[in-house]
Amino acid sequence: MQVFESLDELSNAAADAFCKAAKEAIEQRGVFRVTLSGGSTPKRLYELLATKELPWQNIEFYWGDERNVTEDNLDSNYRMVREALLSHLPADSLHAFPVPVDPDNPAATAEAYEKTLRETFAGSDVPTWDLALLGMGDDAHTASLFPETKAIEQNDRWFVENWVPKMKTYRYTLTAPAINSARQRWFLIGGSNKRQALASVRSSASDLPAALFPSRLIESPTWFVTRDAVATA
Ligand code: 6PG
Repeated sequence: MQVFESLDELSNAAADAFCKAAKEAIEQRGVFRVTLSGGSTPKRLYELLATKELPWQNIEFYWGDERNVTEDNLDSNYRMVREALLSHLPADSLHAFPVPVDPDNPAATAEAYEKTLRETFAGSDVPTWDLALLGMGDDAHTASLFPETKAIEQNDRWFVENWVPKMKTYRYTLTAPAINSARQRWFLIGGSNKRQALASVRSSASDLPAALFPSRLIESPTWFVTRDAVATA
């Protein structure tokens, strides 16, 4: 687990690692496919990436989860990434595949994105992302796999709509198998409010089921965390 004194330090380290991973993937396979996390933590990373020299024409951006809002809504994860990163890149080199949210048709929205992903990874029985970027909520959710929600069991799909009772709204999310199929899985976590969740997710205690701590579903992640998110002894 890499521990950083600040979110800015974490974001700079993650940006350097992103550039390294992208260049290696493009050298080896000609393309770098990354699924992005939303929320607030990764915003600084995205802003830093906008200042980097990368072969953007060989990079494809997907979303690991999305809210049940259209792209112009302030809550949209796509809007956050567009403002922090995509709008600063050469438009003719941009390959971004946002979730085509129709707030009135959650099931159709998720099916449409699943179709896009299966076309992207045609011939593969899993989406072989080069990198899955993940955050974690203070309830130990990741992507939009919230505790005790249906998406946690929907392992036959890659991307689903997920009713979140405590928020009284639908979210859209990759399923755990469709995250774990990534070559690399990174958690970016900051803030003392994540301390308890992070300790629970990393605990070896067997009585902490993934249904209650969905981030435990993610296999062998790389951890980028700020010091204030790490429980002191
Ligand atoms: C979202 C995210 C979600 C996020 C966590 C942490 O749509 O909100 O994808 O999984 O990573 O909720 O959010 P913060 O970074 O804002 O704490």
